[in-house]
Amino acid sequence: MHADLARAEQLIAVVPDFPEPGVLFRDIAPLLADAGAFRVCVEALVEPFRGRFDVVAGIEARGFLLAGAAAVATGTGMVPIRKAGKLPRPAASVSYALEYGEAAVEASDDIPAGSRVLVLDDVLATGGTLRASHRLLAELGADVVGSAVLLELEALGGRAVAGDVHTVFTA
Ligand code: PRP
Ligand code: HPA
Repeated sequence: MHADLARAEQLIAVVPDFPEPGVLFRDIAPLLADAGAFRVCVEALVEPFRGRFDVVAGIEARGFLLAGAAAVATGTGMVPIRKAGKLPRPAASVSYALEYGEAAVEASDDIPAGSRVLVLDDVLATGGTLRASHRLLAELGADVVGSAVLLELEALGGRAVAGDVHTVFTA
């Protein structure tokens, strides 16, 4: 791994018992606060897809930060994928199962059908959010060319659920 990326990985804070007892939470905020680390991570996220996408979709909430930066860095647009009930003009909604209960993701219809979309998020855990996001974009007529996350939590098996995902770091 490139030395700058290795340094960036060290900046991810590992927080025990957040948001509930027993969960080891990976917090990318210190990485984003470091200019060099933020830049190399955005470059690493988009690298395999360069020239192959028109729009970056970011998943609420930390995916917004990565997608906005990636869009500006690559001269593309950005679409927010939000939790249900937040958007004034939702055009599609996809529900998915959580450990307890259900959630839904929504997006507005602000990109032309056939737009080539790269989906970004901070963490791949069980994969439910990313899989629902793929379905959501398909409902809007987008062509999802790939997905990338900063950190894959391998033990949670998200790759089997969400399909092929480019990951910068694994834990
Ligand atoms: C986290 C993370 C991903 C999602 C991954 O978001 O940022 O979006 O969970 O989980 P999954 O692979 O099991 O679906 P969170 O639900 O904490 O939402 P937030 O970013 O709005 O706090
Ligand atoms: N960090 C951020 N999002 C998450 C995590 C985590 O450790 N686990 C599940 N979603």
